[in-house]
Amino acid sequence: MDKFVIHGGRRLTGEIEVSGAKNAAVALIPAVLLCDEPCILENVPDISDVSIGLRILYELGAQVEYLDKTTVRISAVNMTNYCVPYESARRMRASYYFLGALLGRYGRARVSMPGGCPLGDRPIDQHLKAFSALGADCSVNHGMVDLTANQLTGGQIYFDVVSVGATMNAMLAAVRAKGMTVIGNAAKEPHIVDLANFLNSMGADIMGAGTDVIKIRGVDYMHGSTYSVIPDQIEAGTFMIAAAATGGDVLIKNVTPKHLEPIINKMRKIGVNIEEFDDSVRVWVDGPLVRCNVKTMPHPGFPTDMQPQITTLLTLAEGTSIVTEGVWEQRFRYVDELRRMGADISVDGKVAVVEGTGKLTGAPVKACDLRAGAALIIAGLAAHGITEIEDIFHIERGYSNLDEKLRAIGADIHKISEPAASQKLKTAL
Ligand code: EPZ
Repeated sequence: MDKFVIHGGRRLTGEIEVSGAKNAAVALIPAVLLCDEPCILENVPDISDVSIGLRILYELGAQVEYLDKTTVRISAVNMTNYCVPYESARRMRASYYFLGALLGRYGRARVSMPGGCPLGDRPIDQHLKAFSALGADCSVNHGMVDLTANQLTGGQIYFDVVSVGATMNAMLAAVRAKGMTVIGNAAKEPHIVDLANFLNSMGADIMGAGTDVIKIRGVDYMHGSTYSVIPDQIEAGTFMIAAAATGGDVLIKNVTPKHLEPIINKMRKIGVNIEEFDDSVRVWVDGPLVRCNVKTMPHPGFPTDMQPQITTLLTLAEGTSIVTEGVWEQRFRYVDELRRMGADISVDGKVAVVEGTGKLTGAPVKACDLRAGAALIIAGLAAHGITEIEDIFHIERGYSNLDEKLRAIGADIHKISEPAASQKLKTAL
């Protein structure tokens, strides 16, 4: 098992580049199944969730070829397999996008229930509601989801909760259905718009993505496309907070500042300086960090995927902050680890009260999910002393070459494998 070892307390300065968005890429990859010709995806992040998605496509019979480090050519033209087994699906949440894509392509899908970060109950009832509205028979038996439809037909879908995954899946299933589909109470995240743009670039007819009503007129044929994945809003936000937490001055490049607005607004309230350019943001600190309340909400609210990171920043601010998690049942599990680093946080259900102590101390900690891991990295960078983070496979699911990128702006962070870790311990003894 690999670990990150961080010698904290170093101010981050310089320039850092953001990769393509994980939560867009993991939907765009299955979307290629809907295309009658090969496609090229650019700005694809080098993360394990992408490798898993590409692996599933390959297992389904697609041809997958890397043209360079971030460009993939995929041909899903001659395929007949519509089954994603447990071994593949359990490894990431986004494997559920193969449901919508396979159903849209073949009128059949058999996909094991997805895995992913343990954030509390993660039902897929809204996904199934969308598929049913398009005329599919849906059943879930022994952890396998089975979908069949002789002919998918456009329909009216109104979601009971705002769901990113269900909105994307409804779009994937509807693009080739007969007639018009209207999705109400749709999610509005930047990756929803990215999926719509990608599908439209292949000849789909989707209107309204980024608003809460999306209209899709089904098409018969989808042609090949070359498309670049949007920059990762959450990776960018993570770097912004790392810069602020270390009192640094960092230019974060390859971002879409509009997508960062909820994060920028909160950080400015905390006392962080942020200057926006066309495709970069400069983040620096020249005064005290101050308390602020944060509530996570679907886009354009403050993103839940930035909650652990901003909570970590608030431990370094003056005063008492209240952080309310508005999306997931269990997204404060990382707090126990932050406490080991000296944070003063109490949690009651979906509300955390953060008493800013202005200081963290290095400790051995464990990442319990992806963004929890990102928060521990920020804490380790800001802390006095050494932090060792275990279970970093969670982090590698969503951050591309994170240690290398952070080292280039002055962080002392190294990945060591377990044998090296035990050797280090032996030497120390
Ligand atoms: C996506 O998960 C992201 N994952 C998550 O990012 C992110 O936290 C989440 O959206 C919210 O922004 C991917 O894009 C792969 P949801 P998703 O469906 O689609 C409830 C990260 O760290 N719900 O929008 O699974 C659900 O329980 C990950 O990158 C239902 O009740 O989230 C939750 O409370 C973690 N029934 C809320 O909706 C359903 O059928 C939002 O979930 C579906 C969801």
